[in-house]
Amino acid sequence: MISNPLRDPRDRRLPRVPEACALVVFGVTGDLSRKKLIPAIYDLANRGLLPPGFCLLGYARRDWGGDGDFEQLARSCAQAHARTPFREDVWRRLAETIIFLPGSFDDDEGFDTLAQTLLDLESTHGIPGNAAFYLSIPPAAFPAVLKQIERTGMASGKGGGWRRVVVEKPFGHDLQSAVELNALVDSVFSADAVYRIDHYLGKETVQNLMALRFANTLFEPIWNSRYVDSVQITMAEDVGIGTRAGFYDKTGAARDVLQNHLLQLLAMAAMEEPVSFDAESIRVEKVKILGALSLPPDSKRYAIRGQYEQGWLAGERVRGYRDEEGIPKSSKTETYAAVRLGVETRRWAGVPFYLRTGKRLPRRTTEVAVIFKKAPHLPFAETDTAELGHNQLVVRVQPDEGVTMRFGSKVPGTAMEVRDVSMDFLYGESFTESSPEAYERLILDVLIGDATLFPRNKEIEYSWRIIDRLEEFWSGRKPYPYRAGDWGPAEAEQMLARDGRLWRRP
Ligand SMILES: NC(=O)c1ccc[n+]([C@@H]2O[C@H](COP(=O)([O-])OP(=O)(O)OC[C@H]3O[C@@H](n4cnc5c(N)ncnc54)[C@H](OP(=O)(O)O)[C@@H]3O)[C@@H](O)[C@H]2O)c1
Repeated sequence: MISNPLRDPRDRRLPRVPEACALVVFGVTGDLSRKKLIPAIYDLANRGLLPPGFCLLGYARRDWGGDGDFEQLARSCAQAHARTPFREDVWRRLAETIIFLPGSFDDDEGFDTLAQTLLDLESTHGIPGNAAFYLSIPPAAFPAVLKQIERTGMASGKGGGWRRVVVEKPFGHDLQSAVELNALVDSVFSADAVYRIDHYLGKETVQNLMALRFANTLFEPIWNSRYVDSVQITMAEDVGIGTRAGFYDKTGAARDVLQNHLLQLLAMAAMEEPVSFDAESIRVEKVKILGALSLPPDSKRYAIRGQYEQGWLAGERVRGYRDEEGIPKSSKTETYAAVRLGVETRRWAGVPFYLRTGKRLPRRTTEVAVIFKKAPHLPFAETDTAELGHNQLVVRVQPDEGVTMRFGSKVPGTAMEVRDVSMDFLYGESFTESSPEAYERLILDVLIGDATLFPRNKEIEYSWRIIDRLEEFWSGRKPYPYRAGDWGPAEAEQMLARDGRLWRRP
């Protein structure tokens, strides 16, 4: 009998809706929750992707005078930041599910109340013990909250139901703290119940990297050291540090972005084909790549960090990093980092992976660019190919999500001149449906129990191993200056020039 794929429950085209469950957000009044989590929960409700028995439990320090005031705050967050249009009827239904509990993280009574509320949800909302705990809190508070969850027995649902925990980045600040945090989380929750957020993995274009590579015949045969000259992964921001001075000055670009987003993008670009698309198979392949990363022995030349000075951006004068509010004049924190990494596998032997990230760069863009080797032989006059560069495949993660292919084409005319042209695929033009926000996708995955897009322990630890070595090398050295509005310090340009290459100008 031929089964109807539309009725097959495994059919991934069917909307996936979680079972009745509660989402407990610790730090529900914080910046991340207001700008991303609450709007994403609203968007999920608006798309009909939350189960009828859903409950949002918010926990934070300030007393909002009951659910009513908190509901007002949450409503304004959804109105200001949700992706989909605000609909009063959708909000009203969602608002009925919101319970706000005030309490600090060392407040036993507050956590006892929370535990009791979760138990009561079975009779009040028909939720059979299923709950996810989202730790949207300062990293220093992770141990206190995890211990409270353990003390109150909330980590394992009494009488059945699943329990999961969502941990926000930064996941530690070096290898040792990451190992300690992993051990702490694992002592409270089982490994398969832990969801570590790297919101980049929730972006459609990042997932499209896998579709591009593994759903087509076109790219994979040339995705190796035989044809690839180098890979450039860029996450550039035009903004400065905004109001995050305290956090940023202790963190810097390498820990903030390189350790997680850029290394995850590298892993996805470089990994072997997974045996299937389940969480375990994909994570296994990513771990292999992150475990095979190497830094060149000459770090001085291949690990460059910079700090922006005053300059001009979009016609506006902007101040230098050390003149930003809350930043010490003597700060040596980097706002730019560029590094050359190797992947010690047969597929990638000898192919450099250049990673860079920075603030106050000319524009906001994130991309993975695969640069191919030049054709081994060109049967044209040298002058006809003077403007022919390397073929490139560029996956644009944001903005203008899509893929660009650059290759040589004949210039119209009587001569056989060949020059680079671009062929563009833009998400916005090819699909009528707009892409969900990363947090929509990730929250839904947590509630469904799909861990595919969440890095596991070992990935985090291998990433920190690389960052620790960079930090060790950089420690005590001053970052190179660069002018706000430039593409980073001159030393980063020299790093590629030394290898006979140039950074892309996205
Ligand atoms: N903001 C972002 O864009 C962003 C991006 C990526 C990752 N993250 C990560 O997400 C997490 C949250 O960041 P955030 O920017 O939202 O932080 P935040 O604005 O400082 O918010 C912290 C939240 O935790 C609560 N809180 C703090 N100490 C508490 C205590 N002792 N007892 C009870 N509640 C307490 C605060 O409650 P009150 O409001 O009542 O004080 C607030 O709701 C952090 O791990 C951060 O690294 C944030």
